[in-house]
Amino acid sequence: MLYLIGLGLGDEKDLTLNSLDVIKNCSFVYLENYTSFLVFDVKKLESLIGKNVILAEREFVETSDEMINNALNSDVAFLVKGDVFSATTHVDLFLRAVHHGIRCSVLHNSSVLTAVSDTGLSLYKFGRVVSIPFDYNNVYSSYETFLSNGDSHTLFLLDLKPSENKFMNFKDGFNYLLNKSGERNDSRIGLDTMCVVCAALGTDKAVIKYGKICDLLNFNIDAYPQCIIIPGKTHFVEEEVLNLFRL
Ligand SMILES: C[S@@+](CC[C@H](N)C(=O)[O-])C[C@H]1O[C@@H](n2cnc3c(N)ncnc32)[C@H](O)[C@@H]1O
Repeated sequence: MLYLIGLGLGDEKDLTLNSLDVIKNCSFVYLENYTSFLVFDVKKLESLIGKNVILAEREFVETSDEMINNALNSDVAFLVKGDVFSATTHVDLFLRAVHHGIRCSVLHNSSVLTAVSDTGLSLYKFGRVVSIPFDYNNVYSSYETFLSNGDSHTLFLLDLKPSENKFMNFKDGFNYLLNKSGERNDSRIGLDTMCVVCAALGTDKAVIKYGKICDLLNFNIDAYPQCIIIPGKTHFVEEEVLNLFRL
């Protein structure tokens, strides 16, 4: 059996009691190490569950049969930072397991995709989520998706490589947006555009700041992971909450 288990956004204590029971009974425990940043030491998790945790990089999860083979004859836990299916690659693992006749169970947890509601922006009013990769010079689709979101809010996820301790800062994200808006001569984004930057949501180091891009560029945040939101059309209640975070 394969258990796909969300770890949530905080520390090892964010595991649900149900998840903890399941993990304690699993023969193998894998932890994906590429879709987000683990804000606590893996050793703390190992001591909580009383088992070794095997770190799984992208190539291993996407191409190796080790987890699938183990799950054919024993119980395997696959731990995901945040929630389970908030990165497309884990759907692929789930489908491969199903095709091998392995029973799967999903245990959910909190995700950045819902924690952005801490800003006051209504989750019902977000458009498509946009990713900004490290190597963004020739990436036009992210900007185009933002434009197609129209009056909806846009969440920009920023690239990261946890195995190399590399995390994109919101200022790089703004550079991408200013760069692409300049190339297109587009007025939707400029130094005066009001944006929200978020870091380490769901942890005790969480930061949310709301302001013009030019002012945010002068502000430093060293908590990670980080994301950016460009609000679309806002309701006055959304504005009231956003103003609590104004620079
Ligand atoms: C592919 S998403 C993975 C999301 C994760 N599986 C989840 O459910 O939250 C990773 C990106 O989300 C954003 N992110 C993840 N956790 C965050 C947090 N706690 N605070 C702010 N941004 C976060 C960052 O931009 C990061 O690069």
